[in-house]
Amino acid sequence: MSDRGPSHVAIIMDGNGRWAAARGLPRTAGHAAGEEALFDIVHGALAAGVKWLTVFTFSTENWSRSQEEVAFLMGFKEDLLGRRRDELHELGVRVLFLGDRNDPRVSDRLRQQIREAEELTAGDTAMTMVFAFNYGSRAEIAGAAKEIASEVAAGTLDPESVDEVVVAEHLGIPEMPDPDLVIRTSGEKRISNYLLWQAAYSEFVFTDTLWPDFRTEHLLECIEEYRERDRRYGRAE
Ligand code: IPE
Ligand code: IPE
Ligand code: MG
Repeated sequence: MSDRGPSHVAIIMDGNGRWAAARGLPRTAGHAAGEEALFDIVHGALAAGVKWLTVFTFSTENWSRSQEEVAFLMGFKEDLLGRRRDELHELGVRVLFLGDRNDPRVSDRLRQQIREAEELTAGDTAMTMVFAFNYGSRAEIAGAAKEIASEVAAGTLDPESVDEVVVAEHLGIPEMPDPDLVIRTSGEKRISNYLLWQAAYSEFVFTDTLWPDFRTEHLLECIEEYRERDRRYGRAE
């Protein structure tokens, strides 16, 4: 079933706050409830033959939320990585982080947890799970431009050779393939600074389901919809 793809699924896990509000709970309860959805989806993606699963966990813009919510999200990630990394390793899932982990607002403890999860799972091959964390696509592309400019200035890169391949090689995870399918939950229909370069020819599926309610069955519906699409890449036939 996996030969029809998608090989890379990227998800904007949105709607945690609304899920909580609908239950009279604090927004943070929605984030906590999202963990079950995430791990259900890991199993579903593995079963569907997905090779790369990229999830948006915290955007560069999410720092503008209340101090309480940001602190919860940081602590929750630290905790989740500690509790779940062995399970991911047992499932053969390689963990990678995409985004600015070196930001001084990210704690040393979280940076350490990220490193440990990446190291533990470095040899795993069933699927690669990318946590887009403190990630913003414009910042990523600006970072690539900066590196390219310094290589040109140092004389190690010919400016005439800068093309799409060179730019892609300077993005956060150079070996990451472009997503075939981008899913956004919660009914919002925007990209919110996610994978702008990489999603140039991705198929998009928007679903009203709020992230904490999203399960494998919903993922499979999105995959079915993807398989019915006609990806033309600008061709006329
Ligand atoms: C997504 O859910 C999780 C993060 C952005 C961290 P939200 O927290 O954005 O939930 P809504 O969109 O307010 O419902
Ligand atoms: C995008 O969701 C970021 C994550 C899911 C982590 P947001 O809730 O932050 O996006 P906007 O503000 O609705 O565009
Ligand atoms: Mg949101």
